[in-house]
Order: sequence, then C-alpha cells, then structure tokens
Amino acid sequence: MRIVLLGPQGAGKGTQAQRISERVGAKHISTGDLVRAEIKSGSQLGEKIKDYNDRGELVPDEIIIQMMRPYLDEADSWILDGFPRNESQAEALDEMLSEIEAELDAAIALEAPDEVLIKRLSGRRTSEATGRIYHVEHDPPPENGDEDPGPFVQRKDDTEEALRHRLKIYHQHTEPLKSYYADKGILATVDATKEIPRVNEDILEAVEEQP
Ligand code: AP5
Repeated sequence: MRIVLLGPQGAGKGTQAQRISERVGAKHISTGDLVRAEIKSGSQLGEKIKDYNDRGELVPDEIIIQMMRPYLDEADSWILDGFPRNESQAEALDEMLSEIEAELDAAIALEAPDEVLIKRLSGRRTSEATGRIYHVEHDPPPENGDEDPGPFVQRKDDTEEALRHRLKIYHQHTEPLKSYYADKGILATVDATKEIPRVNEDILEAVEEQP
C-alpha cells in the first residue's frame, strides 16, 4: 500500500494513519511528527523550524523534503500523513517515486467543515509515551496505565488562532492537490465527520476500489 492522506487540520489523518498502519502493516510517515521530534531534540534544525510550527506556518519545502525522503526509501508500503501540502511538494514526491520506481495507489481526501474541525481539535490529546492520538470525548485516553502510560498532552499549535491560520493555509495551498490527484485518476474522497471506525472502513474500501 502506498497512499497519501490529504485533509484539513483535525480531519483525522494521524488517527486514521495510525490505525491503518496497525491493520495492514504499512509504515506511517507523518511529517508533522518528524517536525515535532526534531524540535524536541533541541537540534539546530529544530530551533530553525520551531517558529513555523508554533505559528501554524508551513516549514520550507526543501527542509521537509530532506526530512521525509529517507523514510520513503526505507519501506515498500507506507501511508503519507501531512505530505504533500502544496503543488511543489507533490511534484517532489512524484520525482522521488519515479527514482524508486514506485507508484501511488491512491490519494484519499478526508473532508469535514472547518467549524467541526476547530471544535474537535480543542479535545485532542497526544500520548507523550506512545505518540498515540486521542480525543477527550470521541476516543478517550485509556485509564489503565499499562495500555498507554501517557501523559496525554495538548499540542502547542492547537490554539484557536494558530488553527484558523493553518486552515487558511490548507484551503489555499493543500486543497488544490485534490485536483492534482483527480487529474491522475487516483483521488477518492471520504466523509471524515463520521465515527472514527467508520471512516477507517471507508478509507480502506476507497483504496481497494482504485483501479
Ligand atoms: P501536522 O502534524 O501534519 O498537523 P496538521 O496538518 O495541522 O494536522 P493535524 O495533526 O492537526 O490533524 P489530523 O488530520 O492529523 O487530525 P488527528 O488525527 O490528530 O503538521 C504540524 C505542523 O508541521 C504544520 O503546521 C507545519 O508547520 C509542519 N508541517 C508538517 N508537514 C509539513 C509539510 N509537508 N510541509 C510543510 N510543513 C509541514 O485528529 C484530530 C482530533 O480529532 C484527535 O483528537 C482525534 O482523536 C479526533 N478525531 C479524529 N477523527 C475523528 C472522527 N472521525 N470523529 C471524532 N473525532 C475524531
């Protein structure tokens, strides 16, 4: 499986990528997780990209491409979460795929209205121990510490101000990728307002239906 998950902030790209990865064994490659890990490491690169992340801006293309490229080479089967985010990243991905003689199976666009997303993201919690994504209401963190010891924290870029800015960037730069992949005949859209397990089934069905 080689798929791209497109979708606005809070649509569930990370949630779904984690679940699909567990179900089918494909590697989950999240550029957002790579960015956060680099910042946490305190490296010079981390310092350089921290402001972009905290303000909800896109990290410059060349940095992101350099960060994710090794992961693409490492596995035959993967789910890209958060990459590409604009046409130039999509073209870079096409080039990388042609170098490794691979093709995308599908680009899945998760769709939900902005107001649902803003509400949803205020309840997001991420486990510092496992990286697993939860929601205080829709997918609460386990009470049993053996399953996931946590702590379960809120992301720095989940303020309403940063979020509205991230959604604006999504509509300007990332949403046009739906046409990019529709033109290649590999786009499928999935209603991301349904419950998490239903969205999961719909994504897997959409991938299977691709020619
Ligand atoms: P990134 O980490 O990719 O953040 P994002 O795109 O803003 O997406 P989110 O993680 O906010 O949303 P999601 O769709 O993954 O939602 P989730 O599954 O968590 O990027 C962060 C930053 O890194 C960027 O702003 C940028 O600075 C930089 N960056 C990353 N990639 C880049 C790139 N390619 N180029 C340049 N810069 C880049 O779910 C959200 C919540 O909703 C959770 O609580 C979840 O439990 C809940 N939920 C999920 N699905 C459902 C459902 N169906 N019903 C109810 N609740 C649900």
